[in-house]
Amino acid sequence: MSHIQIPPGLTELLQGYTVEVLRQRPPDLVDFAVDYFTRLREARSRASTPPAAPPSVSQDFDPGAGLVADAVADSESEDEEDLDVPIPGRFDRRVSVCAETYNPDEEEEDTDPRVIHPKTDQQRCRLQEACKDILLFKNLDPEQLSQVLDAMFERTVKVDEHVIDQGDDGDNFYVIERGTYDILVTKGNQTRSVGQYDNHGSFGELALMYNTPRAATIVATSEGSLWGLDRVTFRRIIVKNNAKKRKMFESFIESVPLLKSLEVSERMKIVDVIGEKVYKDGERIITQGEKADSFYIIESGEVSILIKSKTKVNKDGENQEVEIARCHKGQYFGELALVTNKPRAASAYAVGDVKCLVMDVQAFERLLGPCMDIMKRNISHYEEQLVKMFGSSMDLIDPGQ
Ligand code: CMP
Ligand code: CMP
Repeated sequence: MSHIQIPPGLTELLQGYTVEVLRQRPPDLVDFAVDYFTRLREARSRASTPPAAPPSVSQDFDPGAGLVADAVADSESEDEEDLDVPIPGRFDRRVSVCAETYNPDEEEEDTDPRVIHPKTDQQRCRLQEACKDILLFKNLDPEQLSQVLDAMFERTVKVDEHVIDQGDDGDNFYVIERGTYDILVTKGNQTRSVGQYDNHGSFGELALMYNTPRAATIVATSEGSLWGLDRVTFRRIIVKNNAKKRKMFESFIESVPLLKSLEVSERMKIVDVIGEKVYKDGERIITQGEKADSFYIIESGEVSILIKSKTKVNKDGENQEVEIARCHKGQYFGELALVTNKPRAASAYAVGDVKCLVMDVQAFERLLGPCMDIMKRNISHYEEQLVKMFGSSMDLIDPGQ
């Protein structure tokens, strides 16, 4: 009986390519294959390994990762040892990603290779613009941020394309450059839309942070462009940085009255997704009438809340702003528009230097549900507060104007 011999390395080679196709969902499989295998050959010749052999664990090429800058140490990093399947090569090591464990509190030697996706100057500019307000990147030092930007790759999407499917393993984190996206959550046999992304923001961090299946489906509702960050780089830089963030903000977050009713683990999840923003004296943080996408907790300094008056007009004929409240350390603002789904009801300005912890609307809705009653109770005082100050809240301009 004759046996067909499968050449050594073929299975791994094809598996690696298949995994990458599933991760990146390229529009053209042949173009992607040419690019993928060319990069593989280049990386292998740099590592001077025999061309026919399957890539070894210690080789300096991760097909899911683009080009790799540094040579890799001989051993796999700690988190990869926890995979529940044997690792014949780097190609199929991500098949069972949810088995991966990582203790962000452990300081470990940074031996993973750096991922670099080369970019044109124009791409780099667009990437920087898309990432400038990404909260998860706010606490990175310049070197970490530069490694993250180097590792990011561009992905264009078509209308109705599923960028993420609920229940899948997490492969990449995404930053939106443009396009609109629906967030769909299926519970039992019911699927409902829990929100949208409108030309900015990011998604796909949860499965990578907590080693859980994807918690929602993300579908493009227009053509769009995204920047992806691979799982390994995300965990090596962002998750590690979160351990530092937890230490930095733990005691402050514990002291915020609004968050007192939450479990410790719920408060830590807040810390994981918040970003710290700094404002100079007089800087506007929120503008009355604008669309809202963030919630703020004051970490230090003071914030003045102003509303435009209908009757008080300045010398240029513009409605004057009148101070209606001052917020201090540990207090929050910017919840009203998120709760009511209306434009900002007032403007907020920094008084002196101010530091705020900022959360995006998706995290606000996901994590602050248990605090909603407290917020709604406070919102009911706003009207009273205005009446007390002005005799009537009718003196003020409508929020949307
Ligand atoms: P992840 O679970 O990795 O993949 C789906 C992503 O949808 C998730 O990360 C979040 O980034 C994003 N998302 C936005 N809103 C929600 C929500 N309400 N529940 C779960 N995920 C959400
Ligand atoms: P938001 O409307 O999102 O943006 C402006 C914020 O000012 C608002 O949420 C509240 O958090 C805050 N604010 C404080 N006092 C008032 C008030 N009396 N009326 C409206 N907003 C107020």
